[in-house]
Amino acid sequence: MIKGKFPINKFSEIQTPFYYYDLDILRTTLDIIKLQAKKNDFHVHYAMKANVNPSVLAVIKDAGLGADCVSGGEVEAAIKAGVSPSKVVFAGVGKADWEINLGLDNDILCFNVESIPELEVINELAAAKGKIGSVALRINPNVSAHTHHYITTGLTENKFGINMSELDEVIDLFPVLANIKLIGIHFHIGSQITDMTSFQGLCMRVNEIQDHFLARKVKLEHINVGGGLGINYEHPNHFPIPDFEAYFKIFHDHLVLQPQQTVHFELGRAVVAQCGSLISRVLFIKQGTSKKFAILDAGFTDLIRPALYQAYHYMENISSELPAEKYDMVGPICESSDTFAKDFTLNQSKRGDLIAIRSAGAYGEIMASQYNLRNLPVGYTSDELK
Ligand code: LLP
Repeated sequence: MIKGKFPINKFSEIQTPFYYYDLDILRTTLDIIKLQAKKNDFHVHYAMKANVNPSVLAVIKDAGLGADCVSGGEVEAAIKAGVSPSKVVFAGVGKADWEINLGLDNDILCFNVESIPELEVINELAAAKGKIGSVALRINPNVSAHTHHYITTGLTENKFGINMSELDEVIDLFPVLANIKLIGIHFHIGSQITDMTSFQGLCMRVNEIQDHFLARKVKLEHINVGGGLGINYEHPNHFPIPDFEAYFKIFHDHLVLQPQQTVHFELGRAVVAQCGSLISRVLFIKQGTSKKFAILDAGFTDLIRPALYQAYHYMENISSELPAEKYDMVGPICESSDTFAKDFTLNQSKRGDLIAIRSAGAYGEIMASQYNLRNLPVGYTSDELK
């Protein structure tokens, strides 16, 4: 069994559970993103919601990525990390006035606007400041992402975006709303998408929508196709880096662009998932009537994805090379859903062994909670533990 590379001797000094970020994997991932995006002249904004650990953010900022934010807190964190506001896009169905004002005060690249009332409020708040707010319309393309229903966003039944049937009404509003400028259109069909034909479907829909704008003589300079590229949760050691070349090629081959248009992406998971692991210790091995439980000191308060989305995370016992056995991998929280996996094959384990729960760099640490009054997990990087 190939295992991930971990500084196990350093781990013995650290209170578990904690997140460990391998910055070499992150830097290599970013090098490939930069190379492939540059080849196509694409702009990548990192989806901050995936992970805002300051050390991770610093590496992403150094790679020159912009930021995709969904709250005032994320806009502040991006700017604090040194991302230029001219590379910040700000989405979300429910932006509060203070959040819109923050974006206006910092002259961010654009608001990704999700409804007509939101357009009106941005216009009003911008007028009060004597500013013009740049906006991209988030359009719901009604394209299926073939992913978990909780992370599907581009169907008309979802709460996100402006529906195609409202487009003409929205286009008619722009001449009236003097303090906003329409710079482009925005889409996001879902997350953990591994079927590339979904992205091809998105491109086709973007082309149709562009034709609609062209027919109405509306010029768009900014085409934002969102994020959603999935990663390989089953084999993080064999596939540590998603196939960015194939992903960007889909958009290169299928998007029909007008002169001067820029194409933007909002990648989260694909950037950070594989560099992060949740490191936990076995508290007890408990023999049940028909199965064995490995009771870990990490629970769904540290990594909620298995409990919330029935998500699979590969796990390895990094302290044992004994023959494999099957365990139900569970946490200490007083709920049955606090289970990372059932009948999971792991090297024979004992109290005190370290378990690495892999591919946890995205939507891991950031979704942690203090339920049961547990401590929030701390994040450490490979640079710190050298
Ligand atoms: N842009 C927008 C408008 C989004 O809503 C999202 C994610 C992204 C970009 C980034 O998507 P990514 O490239 O990371 O797939 N907590 C869930 C994922 C929720 C994703 C929400 N939106 C999970 O753990 O699977």
